[in-house]
Amino acid sequence: MIKEIFKPNPEFAKDARIKNMCEYQELQDEAMRDYEGFWGRYAKEKLEWIEPFTNVLDESDFPFVKWFEGGKLNVSTQCIDRHLGTRKNKAAILFEGDRGDKQTITYLDLYNNVNRFANLLKNEFGVKKGDRVVIYMPMIPEAAYAMLACARIGAIHSIVFGGFSAEALRDRIHDANAKVVITADGAYRKDKPYMLKPVVDEATKGESPVEKILVVERNNEKIEWHEGRDFSYNKLIKNQSNECDAEPMDAEDPLFLLYTSGSTGKPKGVQHNQAGYILWAQMTMEWVFDVKENDTYWCTADIGWITGHTYIVYGPLAMGATTVMFEGVPTYPDAGRAWKMVQDYKVNQFYTAPTAIRVLHKMGEHEPLKYDLSSLKVLGTVGEPIDPAAWKWYYEEVGGGRCPIVDTYWQTETGGHVISPLPGATPIKPGCATLPLPGIIAEILDKDGNKKEPHETGFMCIIRPWPAMIRGIWGDKERFVKSYFGDVKQNGRGVYFTGDGANYDEDGYITITGRTDDVINVSGHRMGTAEVEAALAKEDEVAEVAVVGKPHPIKGEGIFAYVVMKHSLKDSRFESYEAIEKELNEMIKKEIGNIALCDDIVFVPGLPKTRSGKIMRRILRSIAKGEEITQDISTLEDPSIVATIKSLVK
Ligand code: WTA
Repeated sequence: MIKEIFKPNPEFAKDARIKNMCEYQELQDEAMRDYEGFWGRYAKEKLEWIEPFTNVLDESDFPFVKWFEGGKLNVSTQCIDRHLGTRKNKAAILFEGDRGDKQTITYLDLYNNVNRFANLLKNEFGVKKGDRVVIYMPMIPEAAYAMLACARIGAIHSIVFGGFSAEALRDRIHDANAKVVITADGAYRKDKPYMLKPVVDEATKGESPVEKILVVERNNEKIEWHEGRDFSYNKLIKNQSNECDAEPMDAEDPLFLLYTSGSTGKPKGVQHNQAGYILWAQMTMEWVFDVKENDTYWCTADIGWITGHTYIVYGPLAMGATTVMFEGVPTYPDAGRAWKMVQDYKVNQFYTAPTAIRVLHKMGEHEPLKYDLSSLKVLGTVGEPIDPAAWKWYYEEVGGGRCPIVDTYWQTETGGHVISPLPGATPIKPGCATLPLPGIIAEILDKDGNKKEPHETGFMCIIRPWPAMIRGIWGDKERFVKSYFGDVKQNGRGVYFTGDGANYDEDGYITITGRTDDVINVSGHRMGTAEVEAALAKEDEVAEVAVVGKPHPIKGEGIFAYVVMKHSLKDSRFESYEAIEKELNEMIKKEIGNIALCDDIVFVPGLPKTRSGKIMRRILRSIAKGEEITQDISTLEDPSIVATIKSLVK
């Protein structure tokens, strides 16, 4: 733990949008005093409305809330058209490919490309308002065009991270009943081509709602073309017009779905709607990164995750910023790639995950010194708590001791940052997400809604609905209410619970302590242990399996699996435990993708269970970590199993 407090640099603060803690407090007080007035003011000021809204917030059917009812707008116009007057020739996207190929896409280029894409979807594929479109794409500009084209015509996009397997893609396609998939033949990683289209072919084999597949030809590797179903973007786009009317959307029409892991096996289709989401994406971009008109901003996430949605595409473009988009890996061809890009593009705000910081640190402790990083003004982190070693290195070696680090806490469900320092105002304590952003009323509670005292861990909750709050789980109202509003109650009403534990310090600063449910955080990616267990259980020889997270020096958490086999090794079809391990990891690759591969697999004769049959995961977690078992094991059906398992874990 670093005890020092890092105060904002007065030079920076002078020009920041929020300049000091008094200004922060004033905004927060305004929101507390007149919540609807506060949000209504910003919605009028920041968004371009086709028709004005008549009501700010309707909570009568809580937790199904409505923001800015009566209002009509279009998110693509908010991100593109309204900038054409003053920023027509400004770079909207600076793209760098894995192999170093570059493209500058101005706001006018973006307008033309998005309109052509929208016309293609509408005219050639018959995509209409409300249709679901799955996007399974590499990090290339066409992925951003695809998102904005959907927004323009009112289609609901659902991006599936390119690292997910065919099975995972198939589940998401079916759950959303998507009739169109947008993909690429493949792309490049570490100078080598890799493929995506064959995964889509596999995912749509047999019965499938998918009628049309649009393929961006990126790496020109050979792929199969299914007559009447598969179409080349590169060919069709040539015939499209640069003008496409933006569909007037109701403030509460869905904008996108993004599937994320929960505590059960099936991923949840998190739904975000139009106005509230784009408003908060833009406001947090402005407040938290404090991007100025001539700045260049770079977020290293993938568009397959919420960070890529809000902070590569929607947030930066809504505010008219220049956003860098990178296809490759920050450590390839060497540990200086990211720093060279910061130098070459004169990046002013750099936003990444602690896991990436740890890798970059490990691969090149003094690598940043070889580059001119003097353009950097703000550094950001997201996805998991940042440990002191990573923080110190990021602050000193990358930021030159000059740049505030905004430790942004949020989730797929919150749409945008909810707890984060403001770079010109908040005194920063390393490892601490600090304070709720203005307009966010977040508190650490017990299950009865009482606020926790400093240094006591409780549930990280958000008391009142905020504009970018998740609006639902696609097709499952009940699960939405139960997952987020079922655990903590205050004055008889469910309160939004994030799933994370947290505590206050003596100054009211918030430190996130991690998930309290069965979700683990691998390299900043959310993984449900149940999802991994379901994949492993598909192997015939597996009788039972339990998966837990184990601290990992680079990934934050690694996946640790305890497997009970149906037969002894000699009675099974395998020759060795290594062979079973290999097979199990193959199963994970097939069912989920490489991101969920197990770091440890241990074969055990049984699992610690209560007499009612519940697996005691806490014990398994302690064993994986090599901790002493302090909990009472006498209630277990077979207490001796604990010692047996311990002896099998190296
Ligand atoms: C974790 C990513 C500590 C947390 C934007 C949350 C964090 C989950 C932080 C959401 C942070 C995110 N400090 N933990 N700054 N940011 N988390 O949906 O457990 O992929 O619930 O969204 O990441 O992950 P998700």
